[in-house]
Amino acid sequence: MGEPTVTDLPAETPPVCLTDFAARARAVLPADVWDYVNGGSGAEVTLTANRAALDRVAVLPRMLCGVELPDLTTPLLGRPYAMPAGVAPMAYQRLLHPDGERALAGAAATAGVPYLASTLSSTPVEDVAATGAEVWFQLYWLRERSLVLDLLARARDAGCRALVVTVDVPVLGRRFRDLRNAFRLPAEVVAANLPHGRDDLAHLGTPGVSPVPARSGAVFAPALRWADLAWLREQVDLPLVVKGVLDPRDAREAVARGADAVVVSNHGGRQLDGAPASVTMLPEVVEAVGDRCEVLLDSGVRGGTDVLRALALGAAGVLVGRPLLWALAAGGRPAAEEALALLAGELRDALALAGCADPASARELRTLVTS
Ligand code: FNR
Ligand code: LAC
Repeated sequence: MGEPTVTDLPAETPPVCLTDFAARARAVLPADVWDYVNGGSGAEVTLTANRAALDRVAVLPRMLCGVELPDLTTPLLGRPYAMPAGVAPMAYQRLLHPDGERALAGAAATAGVPYLASTLSSTPVEDVAATGAEVWFQLYWLRERSLVLDLLARARDAGCRALVVTVDVPVLGRRFRDLRNAFRLPAEVVAANLPHGRDDLAHLGTPGVSPVPARSGAVFAPALRWADLAWLREQVDLPLVVKGVLDPRDAREAVARGADAVVVSNHGGRQLDGAPASVTMLPEVVEAVGDRCEVLLDSGVRGGTDVLRALALGAAGVLVGRPLLWALAAGGRPAAEEALALLAGELRDALALAGCADPASARELRTLVTS
């Protein structure tokens, strides 16, 4: 998926799947925001590969298994969720809708799934947590360790259930669309978790330059090592998730430093262009660490059959990114609730059609990679 398939649906036609929200989002968003959300890095080879690779995973259904209504309830990091899916951490959600993070976190609360709150949230983590969602705080490791400690304390005090450290952004990927658009944040969208004054860079427009990576480069620590993860592990009592691994060796490093889960991800094709589709690496990561930690998958998940594919390949669950931003743009919290309800409905049907009573049984299914 370079561009999502934008079908020309009349506005009154109810969405029947998550990609139906794309056309509605495109109709209401400024072109540069659409590009920021939907684009990938470089030639967008990895972005396209994510979708293509998921489509090549065939799941072999079982028959006459006596399943009437699959139960989607799934434990993740020791807590029960309504389905094996969470909202991927995504920056600056007020770009999409004035209610931004509050709307999407509220929808996650209704759906009973975790909401991963970005360090670059345009709403403070305390306000996100006040929606009642189960919040997992996503950390971008900042150059100043005191700021990292401050964010960790705020996340803990706000009642966050897990700490998710994203490890695939030593620098931001080169995103040609954003560079061409000189994409910058509008004045009203700020990184609300960061102290005042650290936002300025992301708002300055210079032709041929995207200020968003310029700011990320200025505040993110670029040269982290696995030993730093061990330090982080000691700072927090929360379950620790390492997001953005593809190589099974990195998954092993994460587990050796105390990670409770890893997210196999290429950041939705936004970081290293030419990296493999994340689903391609899922079986090897599960093989390497699946008995010692939970393995989640993101990048390209667009519906219930993709969740089934991930489960059949050994994932404990998935994170969903852009489709929920499309829904947020299209209609705020109600549309995001609708999108999550569609995902649950699709997954229930997919499990029933495959003969599985619950997500755990999907691990017994056989898969084939088709050409
Ligand atoms: C992201 N992603 C991301 N990841 C992260 O750890 N912290 C962040 O702040 C962001 N910000 C962000 C913004 C936008 C607009 C997008 C689209 C993505 C990556 C995200 O968590 C996830 O890995 C991918 O979006 C998953 O791919 P799909 O589902 O969008 O294809
Ligand atoms: C992105 C960052 C901020 O992908 O994670 O845009």
